Amino acid sequence: MMGSIDRAFFTLAVLMGLAGMLLGIQMGMAHDFQLVPVHTHINLVGWVSLALFGIGYRLGFAKSGGLGVLHFWIAAAGAILLPLGIYLATTRQQEAVVIIGSLLTLASMLLFLVNVVRAWSAPAG
Ligand code: HEM
Repeated sequence: MMGSIDRAFFTLAVLMGLAGMLLGIQMGMAHDFQLVPVHTHINLVGWVSLALFGIGYRLGFAKSGGLGVLHFWIAAAGAILLPLGIYLATTRQQEAVVIIGSLLTLASMLLFLVNVVRAWSAPAG
């Protein structure tokens, strides 16, 4: 995992993109748009953000190593729990998961900032 954090990010991103598209198709077919915020967050936090993280590590904008692996697991948990939490908040008025998911997603971006700054003075890897 350590040497291929870019691939891990990109693979999960593609899986999230597929999930977001399937939900989009389902919403369109059902003419029910209650879950648009779930769809948008699967696509934008899952597909787009995770893909950008992967590209950032691959191009050397961010330094990987142990903090990169930690970033991956926090980002993955956030990208899954945030849309799931929006779903639970929308359909069942349960807000605990969306709070955890949003804090993990924020922590993920902060960790990415740390790894971007670490790459300023060190070679990629
Ligand atoms: C198979 C692919 C996709 C399908 C079938 C699909 C379907 C939909 C549908 C039915 C809506 C609701 C539109 C409405 O409320 O009138 C929507 C909204 C949205 N989708 Fe998708 N979508 C797809 C892919 C994506 C992707 C890849 C992204 C982003 C990377 C994305 C981002 C959004 C956003 C941001 C909205 C909210 C737009 C707004 O509220 O103005 N979608 N999508």
